[in-house]
Amino acid sequence: MLPFHLAANYLLYCLRAFKLHGVHSPFVFELYQNVILHEGDYYAYPLIEKMRSSLLLEDRAIPVTDFGAGPKAGLKKNRKISYIARTSAKPAKYAQLLFRLVAHFQPRTIFDLGTSLGITSSYLAMANKQARVYTFEGCPSIAAEAKENFEKLGIPHVQQVIGNLDDTLSKQLQKVEQLDFVFFDGNHRYEPTMRYFEACLSKHHEHSVFVIDDLYWSAEMKRAWQEIRQHPQVCQTVDLFYIGLVFFRKTQPKERFTLLY
Ligand SMILES: C[S@@+](CC[C@H](N)C(=O)[O-])C[C@H]1O[C@@H](n2cnc3c(N)ncnc32)[C@H](O)[C@@H]1O
Repeated sequence: MLPFHLAANYLLYCLRAFKLHGVHSPFVFELYQNVILHEGDYYAYPLIEKMRSSLLLEDRAIPVTDFGAGPKAGLKKNRKISYIARTSAKPAKYAQLLFRLVAHFQPRTIFDLGTSLGITSSYLAMANKQARVYTFEGCPSIAAEAKENFEKLGIPHVQQVIGNLDDTLSKQLQKVEQLDFVFFDGNHRYEPTMRYFEACLSKHHEHSVFVIDDLYWSAEMKRAWQEIRQHPQVCQTVDLFYIGLVFFRKTQPKERFTLLY
């Protein structure tokens, strides 16, 4: 069951959200109809979902350093792979939307902030084998599991960046010319989310796509999302409740959309 604050925000989202006929921007209409609402299957879906299913059954425990938000941050303890897969990985509906966004926009340089076991990184990488996908994870033992998963799926163009995002993000940003696509799923608190967002802005361009995860997970994330929507460099946003899309297209009208997904 959804926690009360999430359920209340979901109700407000449903009341605000448009369906297809309410979208007047041609760019967003096309994106909504052909990419967001696309229901077909892609070859990568069953391969990655098969991997997820086996992770959900994996009884082995590994030592995990907690880098995320909440009272457990900084703690190290053994966790079962099945538990990590169940609690961290984005559900197929949203991970597959990331795949379609990458297949559609064909970004060449992709940052995935928060690898965990590598489910979203795998979707991002399999959607464009020409891309360089950099995936960031703080916990070395989780990163080692993700490495095995990338090998099993045969996706050598994923490069792992291991360490605290507070240190690794700016160093990796210096090494890339521009950022075409970023998935922010690393540290669900206001301050780090805004800091990572601002850092990534230094390498964005007119056609970059940023995707923010868990917009209404907490009051801090809601505040971060509201600020991102109003950011002077942001031109269009699409609120899909669990994730938000951010665009920088100065040639299109500046608009905020809430769409039912
Ligand atoms: C929600 S999980 C990512 C799930 C992944 N995107 C997926 O859906 O498959 C977030 C991950 O980010 C890592 N993380 C959180 N804060 C971090 C930080 N400051 N530096 C590096 N990694 C961090 C956590 O260890 C965790 O594995």
